[in-house]
Amino acid sequence: MLRTPFYDPLKTYEDNYEHGPFGDFADDSEVAIGEPAFDFLGEKITYPLGIPAGPLLNGKYVTAAFKKGFDVPVYKTVRATEFPCHPFPNVLSVKVDGDLTLEKAMKPLTADNIYSEPLSITNSFGVPSRPVPTWQSDATKAVKTARKGQVMVMSFMGTVKENQTADEFVADFAKAAEFAAATKAKILEANLSCPNIGNEGLVCYNLDMTRKVVSAIRGAIGALPLILKVGYYKDDESIEELAGIAKDYAQAICAINTVAAPIVDKDGNQALPGKIRLKSGVCGHAIKWAGLDMTRRLAKARAKVDSAFAVVGCGGLTVPEDFKEFRDAGADLVMTATGAMWNPYLAKEIRERYPNA
Ligand SMILES: Cc1cc2nc3c(=O)[nH]c(=O)nc-3n(C[C@H](O)[C@H](O)[C@H](O)COP(=O)(O)O)c2cc1C
Repeated sequence: MLRTPFYDPLKTYEDNYEHGPFGDFADDSEVAIGEPAFDFLGEKITYPLGIPAGPLLNGKYVTAAFKKGFDVPVYKTVRATEFPCHPFPNVLSVKVDGDLTLEKAMKPLTADNIYSEPLSITNSFGVPSRPVPTWQSDATKAVKTARKGQVMVMSFMGTVKENQTADEFVADFAKAAEFAAATKAKILEANLSCPNIGNEGLVCYNLDMTRKVVSAIRGAIGALPLILKVGYYKDDESIEELAGIAKDYAQAICAINTVAAPIVDKDGNQALPGKIRLKSGVCGHAIKWAGLDMTRRLAKARAKVDSAFAVVGCGGLTVPEDFKEFRDAGADLVMTATGAMWNPYLAKEIRERYPNA
């Protein structure tokens, strides 16, 4: 059942940042979580479930997620410099008939403000970031609101700038990692599913660049556990190469981010205003096939490269049964963004349905 979303799509990002979270997610009541029974990257947790980078805009959201029984909330991706948000709107409901296959994602999808099940949405923020001291002090406080058996992850990324060299981009990414580590978060996440230097692709699809970035991050953060957040890969060779990079420098891979598609309104016009916003990331139910597929293939690649990194399954979990599918696919930890946004009781429902995970 869809409830009041904790991020209100009818309000601006600023409004949500200042006044959210909304609905029952913000009511301060605590879901009982029991004793730690699982290990995630050296941290003891009570249940292998979290909210991935994005919907938890600041410490207030992270604290609410802890209270609602999501043991591994990720603080929304931050940057080494202040960065603006894309213009409103930033979230819309997307109508998809069944799975959003890569073929279907070539054609326009219609979006509006009517949210219904099975729920799929598009989100388009451009990864805004407050000034470094602002997010650092906020995140430092949020880390401490974890209950026993819970842990916050801090997500960060590099910023593409005009006339920047590849080395400068890598250095900026490492700087963001260093700033993120200073919050005392026990686990960090590199958002590699973000724009690459020089072309419009994503860092994670350029594996030479990915290796350079991840190696520089490792140099900047010492021994802190690191998750690599990536998109969907079509070919197994790339997944194996990524697994090799994780083996050398990281402790987990989280997949997937979103599947991009052209988004239009009911009249067929671009739905999100702005030059680079015809295509936007789709998440929620329609991409579950891709999240599950990547989970399975990452688990296989891990065995092939003889590594021990954790697989974090993400994408399309909106009802409790989806959690089981991700676990059966080989996810060590499962994350839900869209599902949690519209159901503050999702962690409670999953824990009740699958007490042993
Ligand atoms: C509102 C919103 C904001 C997001 N922002 C980020 C972000 O800042 N960094 C990131 O790595 N992923 C971001 N994502 C992607 C999610 O982490 C996740 O990978 C994606 O939504 C798929 O999961 P889902 O189907 O459960 O929503 C965002 C997603 C949503 C819904």
